[in-house]
Amino acid sequence: MDTDKQPIALCNSADLVDSGLAVPFDVEYQGQTCFAFAIRFEGKAHAYLNRCSHVAMEMDFQPNRFFDESGQYLMCATHGAMYEPSTGQCVGGPCRGGLVKIPVSELGSVVHWHTAHNLKSVHF
Ligand code: FES
Repeated sequence: MDTDKQPIALCNSADLVDSGLAVPFDVEYQGQTCFAFAIRFEGKAHAYLNRCSHVAMEMDFQPNRFFDESGQYLMCATHGAMYEPSTGQCVGGPCRGGLVKIPVSELGSVVHWHTAHNLKSVHF
């Protein structure tokens, strides 16, 4: 069965506040269970793997807090890599490339993430 591009409900739209706390979720990425997170920036929802491009580790020191003080960038708490919230591209610090972006959509006040060939829902 083709499991590409299935929408999977992630959270309510109201759970994501502009430059606020993230909503965590799990995905299977390239066959491995990984943490992921969704945020809202300038009105739009975005999601990424919770994996810094500097060292493959989680980025939030305080749970679900990814935005820096300005609310303009996502920041890795470990060594301060900075990412652009709407693209995941590196904009400063020791990152090596960008974050892995997960497609999301918003329909009827629900945020969904979308599977892809290397991105699947986690089966327990
Ligand atoms: S692990 Fe994220 S900046 Fe080093």
